[in-house]
Amino acid sequence: MYICLALKYIGCNFILQEYRLLPIYFEYDFFMRSKKTKNNIIIITLLVTLFSIYNIFIYTSDNKPIPVKLNPEASLGLQIWQDNNCWSCHQVYGLGGYLGPDLTNIYSHPDKGESYIKAFLNNGVKTMPKFNFTEKEKDAIVAYLKHIDSTGYYPNYGARFKYSGWVEIKNKHEE
Ligand code: HEC
Repeated sequence: MYICLALKYIGCNFILQEYRLLPIYFEYDFFMRSKKTKNNIIIITLLVTLFSIYNIFIYTSDNKPIPVKLNPEASLGLQIWQDNNCWSCHQVYGLGGYLGPDLTNIYSHPDKGESYIKAFLNNGVKTMPKFNFTEKEKDAIVAYLKHIDSTGYYPNYGARFKYSGWVEIKNKHEE
């Protein structure tokens, strides 16, 4: 191609014609002229590459949250929590229904805690239904809420966004 260009430059068009090299030259000429297209391709390639690198970094970094293991009592509590649709009215870490309050930190709340939680369960108030739990079930719910409470704070005002896209929160057991 450069040879074609050089020949054209020195005015030897006839050589190009003679050896049927003109189409090659025109192709090259077209490529040179559409610089904008070329730039777009470069930009798109760059963005796709950066996006891929970012994704590889995110999905292979071992920053992933450690799966939480509940003790048997807390597992039972979670089961009761799900069976009775507590989450349709209550939130944990802000997720759930909004009729009742968030229960993430109710266990360690200075004015609330274990007996306060238990008092609600079989009595019901205003819009909260009256349940009929056994003492064991109540303990299980408390164990579950205690576990939730031990994992962190909600709302967590100390949360910090990291460059990798993960959110860094201070866990209670790290204090
Ligand atoms: C139909 C909606 C609804 C369901 C289902 C429900 N609750 Fe409630 N709950 C409420 C409402 C509303 C309040 C707030 C009552 C008030 O403050 O007067 C509340 C309050 C509470 C409180 C006290 C919260 C606080 O900070 O004062 C606890 C603990 C609680 N619920 C636990 C549970 C558990 C455990 C379940 C499931 C077994 C459950 N609730 C199911 C609506 C519900």
